[in-house]
Amino acid sequence: MKLFDVYPINNINIVKAEGTSVWDDKGVEYIDLYGGHAVISIGHTHPHWVKRIEEQLHKIAFYSNSIEIPIQKELAKKLGELSGKDDYQLFLCNSGAEANENALKLASFHTGRKKVVAFQKAFHGRTSLAVAATDNKAIVAPVNETDKIVFLPFNDEQALEDFFEKAGSEVAAVIIEPIQGVGGITVASADFLQLIRNLCDQYGAVFIADEVQCGYGRTGKFFATNYASVNADIYSMAKGMGNGFPIGGILIAPHIQPKHGMLGTTFGGNHLACAAALGVLEVLSAEGLLAKAKENGNYLMSELRKMPELKNVRGFGLMIGFDVPEEIKDLRKNLLQKQHIFTGEAKPNVIRLLPALNISRAIIDRFLAALKAEIKALKETKVASELAQ
Ligand SMILES: Cc1ncc(COP(=O)(O)O)c(C=O)c1O
Repeated sequence: MKLFDVYPINNINIVKAEGTSVWDDKGVEYIDLYGGHAVISIGHTHPHWVKRIEEQLHKIAFYSNSIEIPIQKELAKKLGELSGKDDYQLFLCNSGAEANENALKLASFHTGRKKVVAFQKAFHGRTSLAVAATDNKAIVAPVNETDKIVFLPFNDEQALEDFFEKAGSEVAAVIIEPIQGVGGITVASADFLQLIRNLCDQYGAVFIADEVQCGYGRTGKFFATNYASVNADIYSMAKGMGNGFPIGGILIAPHIQPKHGMLGTTFGGNHLACAAALGVLEVLSAEGLLAKAKENGNYLMSELRKMPELKNVRGFGLMIGFDVPEEIKDLRKNLLQKQHIFTGEAKPNVIRLLPALNISRAIIDRFLAALKAEIKALKETKVASELAQ
């Protein structure tokens, strides 16, 4: 049997990982500034996280949500402490798409309404409602097409106000990535997030912050929404939550009431996933990783801004993007092939940096030196080819 070929892959077999380094089967070290798509929050194979999972594995890995699972309550307590949302409620699932799927369903149950406002270039996942709220026609199957989701321009206050004036009483939820990830690291303005908050309050709609990529300390604050000093009604989380162990969840404001059977999952919140997630939170807190993410992110961004070839350097903390001009368009490919550095991309020309939150200054400096070398090499190649013509 062969694998269903849906992923364009690099011909690299990673067999070992530690912190922000990974090694292939030939022993070549790569620096990981991508975190396997923002997933690695506390560094690969962090010893505390490994120990937490190992110990839990010897006790019990899974039993269904039909029994008491105290480790879920332990996770909720720690998450409340670290996020500052201790009056919120936690529902656990397995991935980012599922988190958004449940958030959207819950908003509809809560309001009794059917319309959802999403934004252009949004990515919310690949399950039914999450993909319908994703602005990429190529991944929306005909069965997922719906006129219940409206896409408005990102950061356009007037368009949002106009829409609410027209149809605000039908809106169940507004879902937004406070920093768009797949869309290319686009930061929502504080004014825009505050306007969403005000309109949701005014019209009785639910504000969903999709913090799957930008949350969990990545920006230097637990949630990126905190930069705008607004509270969402539901926060969706995944990626960094398990540091590679699959787990997702939503934080739900106290005014949204649960009912038995309203949401549910077989695997969500299993003992092993909770142990992994607790391991992550314990490391985030013991190693002060939010402050480190902010400090190292600021340093990295300020160094990137000194490179005139890189355009529009943006982001918060360790969620950074910049545009790569046409003349050095092979930069990302060369970083991987020649310098052995993984970075992320966003179409058409954005490099995304999403490293573990405990990345060291030494690794950042190694990356900056490699970046300078590759930019120089690409520019020299271009000049040489122009001279030859
Ligand atoms: C903002 C955002 N939401 C949701 C998702 C979907 O998460 P998952 O792939 O875990 O389903 C992603 C994944 O990239 C994401 O970036």
